[in-house]
Amino acid sequence: MIRSGGVFYHLRALRFKRALWSDHQRSVEAFLDAWNPKSKALTLIGPSAGYSLPDRFLSRFERIQAYEPDPWARMIFDQTHGKRPMWIKSGFRFLGADPISQLPRDGSAVLFCNMLGQIEIPSTHRLKKSLETHLRDREWASYHDALSGDGIEFDLEDVRPEKALLPKMKEWIYVRNRVAPEVEVNAHHAPDLFDGGEGLSYRYWQWRITPKQTHLIEGVFHNARIELDPS
Ligand SMILES: C[S@@+](CC[C@H](N)C(=O)[O-])C[C@H]1O[C@@H](n2cnc3c(N)ncnc32)[C@H](O)[C@@H]1O
Repeated sequence: MIRSGGVFYHLRALRFKRALWSDHQRSVEAFLDAWNPKSKALTLIGPSAGYSLPDRFLSRFERIQAYEPDPWARMIFDQTHGKRPMWIKSGFRFLGADPISQLPRDGSAVLFCNMLGQIEIPSTHRLKKSLETHLRDREWASYHDALSGDGIEFDLEDVRPEKALLPKMKEWIYVRNRVAPEVEVNAHHAPDLFDGGEGLSYRYWQWRITPKQTHLIEGVFHNARIELDPS
């Protein structure tokens, strides 16, 4: 069901986290700062060992619960972050008719941690509808793969913080080695889950995950309307 993760992912993190991932980590931090949820509780979905998550963000919450089936990820997270989540070890079930209905209705802010671009789902339409139905009144955010490929980077200097569709994202690609005969770029389904509708904010950044491979990440967040106390 998921194309990456497990021991392979931790080995990759061990190898490239310091040398290559710091720009991505800073971009995630800026994205989470812009989201700025007010809830004191947080639900994480697929955080792995929290390689992308800043301690400064996690420490804002009194309570964190996390869906993560990988025991290595849970162990490394607990050892490297100041905050230990309450783990839901079975993982999140994405295959049902209305998967987002399983989220606890506890008012927690919800963060999909580069998960939605990784899962294989039977119907984008069904998941989109489920997300819209159950997250309408919640604070939530997701960062996920939009495009990925070897030997490419993305020119994001003039990119506006608004929803971009695939043709626009393709314009941002540049090929590192201009004499390379061809490069293959993969488009992930996760950006199709979100449109330019009201109340959603977007950010784009790149994650050079290995010296060869770079991902374009789409970040989207939603802040529930805050009811103002009339008194
Ligand atoms: C490639 S990692 C995502 C990157 C990671 N969040 C980070 O920023 O470093 C995908 C994670 O999703 C987890 N995962 C896989 N299936 C899951 C599920 N059904 N529910 C929750 N997490 C899941 C994997 O164990 C893995 O840790």
